Amino acid sequence: MNLVEEAIETLKANGRGDFTVPSADLYPYQWLWDAGFIALGWGQVSEGRAWQELFSAFKGQWPDGFLPHIVFHRPDPNYFPGPDVWQTHTVPPTSGITQPPVLATATLILYRQARDRELARNAAEELFPKLMAYHRWLYRARDPEGTGLVSILHPWESGMDNSAAWDEPLGRVLPAELPARRKDTSHVHSSERPSDDEYRRYLSLVVRFRDLRYDPSRLYFESPFRVVDVGFNALLHQANQDLRALAIELGKPTEELDGWIRQGTQAFGRLWDDGEGLYFSLDAIAGSPIRVPTSAAFLPLYAGTPDTTAAQHLAFHLEAWGRAVNFLVPSLAPNHPRFDPRRYWRGPVWLNVNWMIEQGLTRYGHLELARRVREDTLRLLAASGFREYYHPQTGEGLGGRGFAWSAAVALLWFS
Ligand code: GLC
Repeated sequence: MNLVEEAIETLKANGRGDFTVPSADLYPYQWLWDAGFIALGWGQVSEGRAWQELFSAFKGQWPDGFLPHIVFHRPDPNYFPGPDVWQTHTVPPTSGITQPPVLATATLILYRQARDRELARNAAEELFPKLMAYHRWLYRARDPEGTGLVSILHPWESGMDNSAAWDEPLGRVLPAELPARRKDTSHVHSSERPSDDEYRRYLSLVVRFRDLRYDPSRLYFESPFRVVDVGFNALLHQANQDLRALAIELGKPTEELDGWIRQGTQAFGRLWDDGEGLYFSLDAIAGSPIRVPTSAAFLPLYAGTPDTTAAQHLAFHLEAWGRAVNFLVPSLAPNHPRFDPRRYWRGPVWLNVNWMIEQGLTRYGHLELARRVREDTLRLLAASGFREYYHPQTGEGLGGRGFAWSAAVALLWFS
């Protein structure tokens, strides 16, 4: 079997009817940003199945527009924290926090490449208001002060769970007791996962939000963790541009989207550090930048916010990272004291992030560097298959096996 056939087999093996699990043992439900990349992968195989993936994610949407990071379509005892911990009392059960907004982007790409135009038109018509409702929710619930940038209230909302950028803000969260044995460390070696201390703090935030009944107005002001994540905001900014393009295709008004895009473009300047020549997230509670260079710092390239000089600085940093590791893009700067090449978001390479960074580099004409990212990705796939993440020096596959978004990226790039 070649890479593309294996990628299709992997998506099929993780398919559960109308949704796809990221990895059979480790993550037995549907995750929000995974669904976006996975839908794009399915788009190379079956358009109908790709649209279904997005509709399934929206089955979890709450009446106020909120989209949860996990939809618990079917009970599975193999995951912690499951629906009994979240207690959202929704049908279907869901988590009570969100994840980076990529579904508008996935919708636009699927719409543009569709061969079945009628199916695509109907699907996009149905998804458009749901996507608008979600983006409105993000601004209302997560930027009530109207800054143009939204906050995340849990490290899991960044999608980069244990990023070294969250160490200080998470340090302010009191740890909770772990009421059950963690399930993740029975599938993957604990050296490749977040620590127990981090897990206690993740859980304590969940319990706090549950006690507040997930009321968005209270969560924003009462959460002890509130961060303006550069990655999340870059993906939202690109999603707004994609939703605007979709609005034009469908003949819908664009004023609201224009406003978000205009404000976001300006507000991104607040995340730029001129001295370092990099973007950093902001700790909204301490009111200070988090000067930890992670792969999220390059995502504004994908969203088109830097000017060409800033883009040049970013490319310069990435080239330096590329001299320090064999495979781009590590999730943390390789010379950072907390760089840990095996541990989840503290060093390893993640292929969905590579795909977005490559697009950003191409957008700004850094074609050599874009090619390096693409070729490194292909080498990782060829050497180690569809793993959850990869060692940036040795290329060893780490974390979950048969991983859906890694297969989806292989299909997007190489089919
Ligand atoms: C982990 C990752 C997150 C991903 C999820 C499912 O929690 O950190 O980004 O969405 O697994 O793959």
